[in-house]
Amino acid sequence: KSADKGQYRHYMLKEIYEQPEVIKDTLRGRISKDKILEQAFGAQAKEIFDKTKAVQIIACGTSYHSGMVAKYLIEGIAGVPCRVEVASEFRYRKFVVQDDTLIVTISQSGETADTLAALRLAKTLGYAATMTICNVAQSSLVRESDLALMTEAGPEVGVASTKAFTTQLVALVLLTIALGKRNGLSAEKEAEMVSSLHQLPQILSEVLTLDQSIEKMSEAFADKHNALFLGRGVQWPVAMEGALKLKEISYIHAESYPAGELKHGPLALVDSEMPIVAVAPNDELLEKLKSNLEEVQARGGELFVFADNNSGFSSGDGITVIKLAPVPELIAPIVYTIPLQLLSYHVAVLKGTDVDQPRNLAKSVTVE
Ligand code: G6P
Repeated sequence: KSADKGQYRHYMLKEIYEQPEVIKDTLRGRISKDKILEQAFGAQAKEIFDKTKAVQIIACGTSYHSGMVAKYLIEGIAGVPCRVEVASEFRYRKFVVQDDTLIVTISQSGETADTLAALRLAKTLGYAATMTICNVAQSSLVRESDLALMTEAGPEVGVASTKAFTTQLVALVLLTIALGKRNGLSAEKEAEMVSSLHQLPQILSEVLTLDQSIEKMSEAFADKHNALFLGRGVQWPVAMEGALKLKEISYIHAESYPAGELKHGPLALVDSEMPIVAVAPNDELLEKLKSNLEEVQARGGELFVFADNNSGFSSGDGITVIKLAPVPELIAPIVYTIPLQLLSYHVAVLKGTDVDQPRNLAKSVTVE
């Protein structure tokens, strides 16, 4: 995890490849064979989690997208109400503070001005407690929060965040389990979730072997001006993050939509000049997603699908499919993020942009 590019052409590529290792680092000391090790979350963790009845997540950029994934997990698995908001909006609107709400800020740097200001504001408003999921131990967010769950991504140099995002997702799964256990999540379910986390580094290493096929796929994007990223359910924020990566480093305009919303607008944009990327694990929304994608194909849109082996997708006219081995649903958002990172990376390289330092963007935005 040295801050050196080593054999890689760009920091971003190095950081993408580091993910299996840094996820292992983020899990170390936080899980046993079949349980989370809650004491590792901090001295006050037990007391704070015991009284938490709701969660308010605040973040910016990529970290906001991990918050969006967390909303699906915290409400869907832990059964705890969870709201997510970008910090620059949260800090300037009037909102209702529910009793016993835990504020969770998510940030790679721990210094993002809006997130920090939102935390400071929240502390004056009667929230029960504050927690940060953060990658920099000496940062302001860590110092100013009651609890800190550190991601162990190591220094992230590429402006476009990669390993910070996936380690945040791992931390958020741990938080989901901690809250879920107070809300009826069984020991069996906890063991099953922890076992999925143990499998994750190995699964990610396998997904990284798709790199060459993804590089080939990227050729179809280099001369395009727009792209649409689709997902459903917890994969929608994965699609949001995929679109953000492409925008940031290749300067191709990219938008993400939950696939069910296509018919309410974006379908009007679909033609052969608009590549459409979809993430399609084998989940309960697969059939719905498939019919959404058929609507796209019927309108001449070219599809690029990252799909589970058993999802029944295959490459053909107007559709390129890259298949992934079946993965436990809990970790699917983390797994399906990797091919989207690689896709943007290769498109940017083809376009010759400054991958690690995209124009107009900064790694850490410490002024408003
Ligand atoms: C900047 C970076 C993004 C990052 C965002 C939030 O915009 O370019 O990669 O996601 O800030 O940063 P944070 O450090 O709070 O996660």
